[in-house]
Amino acid sequence: MLEGKRILIGISGSIAAYKTAALTRLFVKAGAQVKIIMTHAAMDFVTPVTLATLSKNPVYHEFIKNEAGEWVNHVELGLWADAFIIAPASANTLAKMANGICDNLLLATYLSARCPVFVAPAMDLDMLVHPSTQQNLTRLKSFGNLLIEPTHGELASGLEGKGRMAEPETILAYIAAHFSENKPLLGKRILVTAGPTYEHLDPVRFIGNHSSGKMGYALAHELANQGASVLLISGPTVLTIGSNRIEKVAVTSAAEMYEATVNAFAGVDIAILSAAVADYTPVETSLQKIKKTGDELSLQLVKTKDILKKLGSLKTSQQLLIGFALETENEVVNAQKKLVEKNLDAIVLNSLQDKGAGFGYDTNKITMLYKSGIQKDFGLKSKQEVAKDIVEEIIKLVHA
Ligand code: CTP
Repeated sequence: MLEGKRILIGISGSIAAYKTAALTRLFVKAGAQVKIIMTHAAMDFVTPVTLATLSKNPVYHEFIKNEAGEWVNHVELGLWADAFIIAPASANTLAKMANGICDNLLLATYLSARCPVFVAPAMDLDMLVHPSTQQNLTRLKSFGNLLIEPTHGELASGLEGKGRMAEPETILAYIAAHFSENKPLLGKRILVTAGPTYEHLDPVRFIGNHSSGKMGYALAHELANQGASVLLISGPTVLTIGSNRIEKVAVTSAAEMYEATVNAFAGVDIAILSAAVADYTPVETSLQKIKKTGDELSLQLVKTKDILKKLGSLKTSQQLLIGFALETENEVVNAQKKLVEKNLDAIVLNSLQDKGAGFGYDTNKITMLYKSGIQKDFGLKSKQEVAKDIVEEIIKLVHA
């Protein structure tokens, strides 16, 4: 099932650490090569000797390997892995991962890993629902990390509730599904645009917008999870990529995004344009900083090229084109107009009138409109859940 796959398990301090012995065995039996990193706290619950025996590899827990000062290369470990599974992920380890803290070997490896990272939390029910833990989980998902949800049941505290680490069999099934060849978008090449564009006025100023890129990045990760190979053309954001199925091209201005997107379009099966592209750009960009002189300053702006409309004119019958519309009034009518004018297969409508939807929020509320005239409304959800809904709809379009 996992022949030849290289699985790195990161174990942090929780009673559920004892289950990693069974998990290691399951991975080895499934044909995977397994390496293990433990935090110090994890060693109170399961011994390195047990895990080294089961994994048939040395277990790592220190930066320095021996008295000669030889160090464990965490970058190499991160690059070695096809998948990194942090199980159990304690509240403390999750918090450190979400904030880039790197005070042990597991965390240093997490920061250097390029492969998909799966997180299987384990903690008491109140720790799990605490807003700080929930925010950390949302943050990790926004990095592209994949959450293996904890389950309900009796907890180490004696309380009953959600917080038990997923069973080893569930984790194995999750990882096997990730590597499965039966993914619905396997073999599809999909272009996604995301984030804002910046239009430079002078060397220090630009015209931009509040787009964070979260929706587009969540989409790119969900498409990659479903097997697609994704070309993500992104305006400036602080977001990072957590999948080796995503290739990122960073651009700044609307003109650069136009160039990169139009050039790549012929090579893709599907394009989803979620970027908030500037509609106007300064006629001139000053080479020097514009000095403060008169009481007023007028800027002359010129329309940018509409990328989505251009792709609509180039689209072949084999390609699918999906746009986004951000509206503040007459939402459905305006989105419908864009769907037709830009020759789209579907459009995702965000209304800024919906609370919790749009720029900067971690949640979004969308309506999808289709070329066929069908309209479908979705509830307010996290951007990761919205991405799942959109990708599910795209899969239906692909197989229609
Ligand atoms: N878009 C684009 N190129 C532009 C402007 C917009 O590709 N120069 C795309 C966006 O990525 C989005 C869609 O067009 O998928 C709609 O963007 P939106 O800002 O809602 O609409 P506009 O067409 O710009 O019209 P308006 O701003 O007047 O609503």
